[in-house]
Amino acid sequence: MAFARMIQYTQKHLLGIQTLSKEDIYCIFQSAKFFSHSGIHASQRFSYLQGKTVVLGFFESSTRTRCSFELAAKRLGAETLLFQPQGSSLEKGETLLDTLETIDAMGVDIWVVRHSINGSIELMSNNSPNVFINAGEGNNEHPTQALLDGFTLLEKFDTLEGKRICIVGDILHSRVARSDIYLFQKLGAEVALCGPDIFMPDIHEFADIRRFSTIEESVEWADAINMLRIQKERIVDKTIPTAEEYNRLFGLRMKHIQSKPTIVIMHPGPANYGIEIDHEVAHSPQSVIQRQVRNGVAVRMAVLTLLSNLNM
Ligand code: NCD
Repeated sequence: MAFARMIQYTQKHLLGIQTLSKEDIYCIFQSAKFFSHSGIHASQRFSYLQGKTVVLGFFESSTRTRCSFELAAKRLGAETLLFQPQGSSLEKGETLLDTLETIDAMGVDIWVVRHSINGSIELMSNNSPNVFINAGEGNNEHPTQALLDGFTLLEKFDTLEGKRICIVGDILHSRVARSDIYLFQKLGAEVALCGPDIFMPDIHEFADIRRFSTIEESVEWADAINMLRIQKERIVDKTIPTAEEYNRLFGLRMKHIQSKPTIVIMHPGPANYGIEIDHEVAHSPQSVIQRQVRNGVAVRMAVLTLLSNLNM
């Protein structure tokens, strides 16, 4: 498979799924398949990003996304620079745009950014000549998570056309839910949402999407189910259910998956076991959670390569 011949991707940045075409998405999947088949291990090095510097600007906590972007960039031959707010001049009153200008002056090429404020990554991209990748922004979008979720589902199903995917949990505060909805719908899947009323988006947002109020109905309906954590760090003004109460009403437990042995179980992580999903369920044969993590490296290698080939 010749990598260079696959490139039809047309975007300068990757800020969200909403602006991608179906062709862009399949282009990323095709490239991710190339990296996944070639092996994502360190012994398999590529030089697509040789001579480039990738800044990992993580203004919010992360394990999976940060580590996999770092490994992806390194395995493509790039140099990486980790920027985190703790211990930086942001603590001395420097602004986000000052920080951007300062690091840009050091000669960097690609920014991978996680930030808690919606719109901040677009703002950065409008104030820099470099390429930007959204690595999770507020409750807005988390495009590479949706891409790796779609890619993982396509290892299970030949197509997402007509497949039923239910996203369960704190939809309101979740950027994963939003990017997943856009991506799954673009690829022809039927999407449903489930969760307590306080975690459901306004009825006008996603008005065309089916909503369930019990985990049982969701499991019965779905071919795949994506379980989300309660995003406590983004909840300021609400009383949230106790862990026991939440687990009883919305937690995915063994009895649910035993009633539907074909269901595919996903979770973007980090999981709070015993709340939205039981440990046994997350480690059952129906779960693709570790596969999602593995595919995250290949998908991020694909995104970095496509963007750098196009823009440099
Ligand atoms: C998610 C995130 O940070 O948006 N995690 C991830 O990137 N794998 C989901 C979450 O924090 O619950």
